[in-house]
Amino acid sequence: MPVSPAGLTVLSAADVLDRLHHLRAQQPVKYTAFYSSQLGGIVTDPALMVIPFDDHMVHRGHGIFDTAGIVNGKIYDLEAHLDRFLGSAERSKLRLPGTREEMRDIIIRTTAASGRRDGSIRYWLSSGPGNLDLMPAAGAQPGFFVMIFPGLAYPEKWKTDGVRVMTTTYPIKPALYAITKTTNYLPNVLMQMEAREAGFDNGVFIDANGHVGESSNMNVAFVTRERVLVHPKFDHILSGCTARRMLELAQTLVARGELADARVADITQAEALAASEMLLIGSSVKVTGIVQWDAHTIGTGKPGPVAAALLQLLEDDMRTGPRLIDVPY
Ligand SMILES: Cc1ncc(COP(=O)(O)O)c(C=O)c1O
Repeated sequence: MPVSPAGLTVLSAADVLDRLHHLRAQQPVKYTAFYSSQLGGIVTDPALMVIPFDDHMVHRGHGIFDTAGIVNGKIYDLEAHLDRFLGSAERSKLRLPGTREEMRDIIIRTTAASGRRDGSIRYWLSSGPGNLDLMPAAGAQPGFFVMIFPGLAYPEKWKTDGVRVMTTTYPIKPALYAITKTTNYLPNVLMQMEAREAGFDNGVFIDANGHVGESSNMNVAFVTRERVLVHPKFDHILSGCTARRMLELAQTLVARGELADARVADITQAEALAASEMLLIGSSVKVTGIVQWDAHTIGTGKPGPVAAALLQLLEDDMRTGPRLIDVPY
């Protein structure tokens, strides 16, 4: 192997491939299929799931993403996730690699190629490679990537004992960036790290007006003592597909008399702390009870009945509801 004047090895293409395999052997991952518009196809070897370093999603964060679930061999609620993806792309001034139908088709086919029947699909749009500037490079094609993986997992005791959150000291993203699912997750990452370091499970953003925002990669909602399900307005946080669907499904609980109402409103932290239940909501966590916020116990200090009922409705919807797409495995 040649050595550069600085004493570093100059690698051949074969060396790079070897080393990419070695890196993956050190850190085995369960990514079962990856589509890249730049490669023009699907790879199933995780060592080959790469993008060029000068892609602007890497060095400038000029990219967006979304994640949908695979449940029992079907894709759940993909249209809602695609709506959000396209909204994020537009606000980020990102060009699309094709039509919505073409992207949907690639997502479905990559899922089929993976063989995975339960897990997650994450897909990204980037402004493409070509230089290290800010503006997309001349002639850059937008990059579209789809990864099939097992999904995020959370401790079993979150379900039984509930989750403990803290108010983050990190500022919430300005609304434009919070409603756009960009690859800039630094505040979200720092919030979660801060919470873990302080012995909590996660954090919650409060906005400049003192209203409750969201958690790191999940929404939060509350059940008031009057049995009203209240979710923060979606104008300063990510419009969670799960939260939106949960608000619709909650009408079943209203009809059954288990909830008085379900609505979206600004919520102050003081109002939130007085709730009888607090919920963590997202594609990966589904609906999970929050039992402690900073030093305050929420409700009885145990996950409550509305959280359990909403989880049941959501799980039924994910298995047998109207928002499932078949995968041609
Ligand atoms: C910041 C943020 N808020 C909320 C959510 C929940 O959204 P969804 O229910 O679509 O998973 C996510 C997850 O994507 C997120 O990243």
